[in-house]
Amino acid sequence: MRVPSKLDAGLRKRLLPLCRLQPGEIWTDKAQGHRVGCLDATDFSQASRLLGKARAALALQDPPYNVAALQIRELEDYIKFSRAWIANCLKLMKPDSAFYVWLGADQRAGFQPLPDFMFLMREFPELKSRSFITLRNQRGYGTQKNWMSLRQELLYYSLGKPFFKVQYTDIPKILRGYYKKVGNKRLENLERGKSPNIRPGNVWVDLQQVFHLLHENVPYAYAQKPLAAIERILQASSKPGDLVLDFFSHSGTTLLACERLERRCATMDLDPIFCELSIRRLERFRSTGEPGWQGQDPFLK
Ligand SMILES: C[S@@+](CC[C@H](N)C(=O)[O-])C[C@H]1O[C@@H](n2cnc3c(N)ncnc32)[C@H](O)[C@@H]1O
Repeated sequence: MRVPSKLDAGLRKRLLPLCRLQPGEIWTDKAQGHRVGCLDATDFSQASRLLGKARAALALQDPPYNVAALQIRELEDYIKFSRAWIANCLKLMKPDSAFYVWLGADQRAGFQPLPDFMFLMREFPELKSRSFITLRNQRGYGTQKNWMSLRQELLYYSLGKPFFKVQYTDIPKILRGYYKKVGNKRLENLERGKSPNIRPGNVWVDLQQVFHLLHENVPYAYAQKPLAAIERILQASSKPGDLVLDFFSHSGTTLLACERLERRCATMDLDPIFCELSIRRLERFRSTGEPGWQGQDPFLK
């Protein structure tokens, strides 16, 4: 039987007693020093407790955004919420660090919240815009009477001069036939390149959206990001041992990616159930090597 994808009131009542964190509490991982807090990202006294004096080399944020057909009032509240967590995040970043944020652009609602969020970012001039990345989902909405909506947006900003390492996909280069003379030799572009594969650039077409049959699937999570996308960001914008900050843990994708790539993760979620799922996901990976549950219930022993 498939685990229900929605956390309704009855389910929440059953799962909450199984969660080890209460609001305000922080779990510290003894093995690698990761931290998971049941905290509110908009409250600096809570967010700063997660890091103590440490500062992050990379902030990778995936706030809730899939509010269908945003109303004006909701949009104002959303921008207020965003302003608060961004200001908190900035105070917890190193002087040379990277800031990524995933966003939606609802074509049924003026492409919000993306445009107003971009305007909001002008209030933080220390964050310089670097890239506007689109991840192409495999499945979308609005298929019959409109262009199917397949995109997820990812904005990359830098604070100071952060580390950046070019990434490559698994897709081989196919463009051939232009040459350049290097020394005495006439070399084709494929012979000159640093990799036989193409770079993802700012349109990522090679990553699989998470659905229930995938090993990395985390039941109850409704907004899980592909592990490969988070790992790509970590490899581009952090080094082993760096501290990575994620205010919106949900299924614990950043936590797991940090574990796999030997970064340290400081993450939080307002909801004790998502804090518990994040911690259980890390523990399951350590004991089985599995990145998720592939549709099985994470709360069954
Ligand atoms: C879009 S999901 C993050 C998905 C995550 N990147 C993943 O791959 O699983 C957003 C999460 O933010 C949490 N959240 C919402 N408001 C919050 C707040 N003020 N502070 C901390 N977490 C919050 C929600 O409970 C939800 O789990």
